[in-house]
Amino acid sequence: MDKIFKEILFSRDAIQKRVRELAGQISKDYAGRELVVIGILKGAFIFMADLVREISIPCTIDFARLTSYGTGSESSGKVVMTKDIETSIKGRDILIVEDIIDTGLTLQYFVDWLKERNPNSLRICVFLDKRKRRKVSFEVDYVGFTIDDGFVAGYGLDFNEQFRFSPDIYIINTN
Ligand code: IMP
Repeated sequence: MDKIFKEILFSRDAIQKRVRELAGQISKDYAGRELVVIGILKGAFIFMADLVREISIPCTIDFARLTSYGTGSESSGKVVMTKDIETSIKGRDILIVEDIIDTGLTLQYFVDWLKERNPNSLRICVFLDKRKRRKVSFEVDYVGFTIDDGFVAGYGLDFNEQFRFSPDIYIINTN
């Protein structure tokens, strides 16, 4: 097995500060409305929990599970939904919460899926954006941090199911 080297990219303090800023912006943009916040499992579970606790407008919560990664760090490119949402979203304001956008294929698939159910509005909040790696042209509405290429883990994100629990975000290198 390869040896794993990791280096802190974003500390827990930097993460907390940025989550507060995002939540403040979202609360302002949706003032007077009610949001349905949908997290994409598994990676978004920690970001989502932190974000909704900082958002000051009423929201309901749901989750979908989408996957395109086997094990390791390369996407298979084929997106599969293994858990659907349980909320009726017709006519409602939806915010998708995702840990990271890379090629954009996962979010494109999910957005197309949700749009068929006629929400009133649909926006996307990702914590990390690997903008240069995009394979489909795709814009997100709220971004925590834009990062360069490289594999990251921690704060919900995994490398072979490791490091999700870490409060900091690391760059992973294997040798
Ligand atoms: P996309 O479909 O290529 O945009 O990939 C999105 C999904 O790939 C995310 O939900 C993550 O689960 C996973 N992913 C992409 N890059 C990373 C990374 O650097 N670390 C951990 N997971 C990643």
